[in-house]
Amino acid sequence: MTTISRPRSRRERILGLHRAAAIMVGVYVLAHLANHLAALRGIDAHLAFMQALRRVSRVPVIETLLLAGIAVQMGSGGWLALRHARRQGPRRMPFERLQAWSGAYLAFFMLVHVVSVLLGRARLGLDTNFWFAAAGLNVGAWPLFFMPYYGLAVAAVFAHLACVLRRRLPAGVAPAARNRTTLAIIAVGVVTAALIVAAFGGAFYPVDLPHAYRATFA
Ligand code: HEM
Repeated sequence: MTTISRPRSRRERILGLHRAAAIMVGVYVLAHLANHLAALRGIDAHLAFMQALRRVSRVPVIETLLLAGIAVQMGSGGWLALRHARRQGPRRMPFERLQAWSGAYLAFFMLVHVVSVLLGRARLGLDTNFWFAAAGLNVGAWPLFFMPYYGLAVAAVFAHLACVLRRRLPAGVAPAARNRTTLAIIAVGVVTAALIVAAFGGAFYPVDLPHAYRATFA
């Protein structure tokens, strides 16, 4: 017996793109956050982890695919969120709202973050390593901006993933257990964000910025 497959709707095609890009970008982002957690063991541990990660992430074809994946992720995510908002109106559930808001913040953050990393490399000629990120968290009043800017980004990654996972849990999982799992992942994200920002901000050891990095904010 032959089965006739229904052509995929535009929404399904865009969702497929969003998921494919999410896997590619997500693998880098999780490795990237593991890299930042290595800063808990000191600056040298962070720099060594980054050197190892760059052997893969700086291969031109991989970096180009990553940047293209981010663009697809942002475009498709924005389209899906707007479509969903128009359909649901004000009746959206709290975790649906959290998924939309965390996604929107991640889109804003990734755009600003990736452009500043690329400009830091190309225009300022800096090695965009631990010191590059630490500068904003250690000069003058800049931490007032960079603490929430970085902290929210890390927490938003976990919140976004938690909301996606919540909908993908088997149908038999009770609502209370579903909520507990989601909130536990979000809590891990908040603690991870606080630890990373504290390490870069000099809470665990002195962060003595080299002049070239301090000068970008002076
Ligand atoms: C405290 C949080 C974060 C800090 C301090 C930070 C810092 C950095 C630094 C220093 C680089 C340059 C890496 C290199 O030269 O090899 C970088 C690259 C990058 N970051 Fe982050 N990051 C943070 C969080 C995030 C998050 C949450 C995302 C995504 C959701 C993200 C996405 C990226 C991407 C895609 C690149 C690669 C840009 C490229 O080399 O083409 N980062 N980040």
